[in-house]
Amino acid sequence: MTINDITVVGAGVMGRGIAYVSSLGGFRVTLVDVSTAQLSAACDHIERLTEQAVDRGKLTEASAANLLDRLNTSTDLQSAVAETDCVIEAVPEKHDLKQDVLETAGRYAPSKAIFASNTSTISPTELASYTGRPAQFAVMHFFNPVHKMRLVEIVKGLETAEDTVQLIKQAAEKMGKETVEVNEFPGFVTSRISALVGNEAFHMLQEGVASAEDIDKAIKLGLNYPMGPLELGDLVGLDTRLNNLRYLHKTLGDKFRPAPLLEAYVKAGRLGRKSGRGVYDYTDQGRGWRT
Ligand SMILES: NC(=O)c1ccc[n+]([C@@H]2O[C@H](COP(=O)([O-])OP(=O)(O)OC[C@H]3O[C@@H](n4cnc5c(N)ncnc54)[C@H](O)[C@@H]3O)[C@@H](O)[C@H]2O)c1
Repeated sequence: MTINDITVVGAGVMGRGIAYVSSLGGFRVTLVDVSTAQLSAACDHIERLTEQAVDRGKLTEASAANLLDRLNTSTDLQSAVAETDCVIEAVPEKHDLKQDVLETAGRYAPSKAIFASNTSTISPTELASYTGRPAQFAVMHFFNPVHKMRLVEIVKGLETAEDTVQLIKQAAEKMGKETVEVNEFPGFVTSRISALVGNEAFHMLQEGVASAEDIDKAIKLGLNYPMGPLELGDLVGLDTRLNNLRYLHKTLGDKFRPAPLLEAYVKAGRLGRKSGRGVYDYTDQGRGWRT
């Protein structure tokens, strides 16, 4: 079996990046979302990334045009998976939503198709069961921004077949990524560490230990992280970060209890870059505005 066609479900922060690197890797891609506005924003984003790649000499005009030609969008999951080789689910980190998408994909995709989820925390064994073909499922955990981050964490469920792992690994490599294989455990390797560090930074902000800018600066310059934990939270989306923490709190215990200030920001609609404001302000007027 060879993967030629990939269906990416969810055209948000991650789905649009996964669609871009998939098309860049030579796959034919269908990007699916319930929102036409999100699909249109995703296409604009992918066109911008493609133009930047041409400007930097990383893509020729012809290969950029081919990349965009390989990309389609749809609001109809059932027909979008009818002839796919691989479904990559990237809908919000909500259990019921993922269940619904994977059940539909499992019902209508061809028998050979493999399934992946970009979940940051949820059990691959559980998600695999919704497809009805658990041997053909693994978590394919990309990082934000997808076109820049080099890793894909492959997380195996109880019944994931070795063939599935190899197919996913090859697909990730065609997308220009390095992979690691991880066994099922809540939060895998990366989300578990990232959630803990990000939550601690929110506790510090709440306690008045330092300003947001100085917490981020201290971690970047003192610990050599490429980004501060608060600016990373804004990039990831504070709602996504909160959902991850709630899940890890439930599965791994009290050290993952979400910081009350993080809960308050999400209640206030301060979700980070995607809503224009999180810990920092990204509107033109905002003092923490960055490009
Ligand atoms: N944001 C990050 O930095 C990051 C990093 C790694 C993994 N993840 C994981 O990736 C997944 C997606 O996160 P995101 O940040 O891209 O979310 P997002 O909110 O930016 O985008 C989710 C998209 O899914 C769409 N959607 C909702 N229900 C749908 C359905 N039934 N069918 C099709 N589309 C639907 C929404 O309209 C939206 O466009 C989550 O599981 C998250 O935990 C996120």
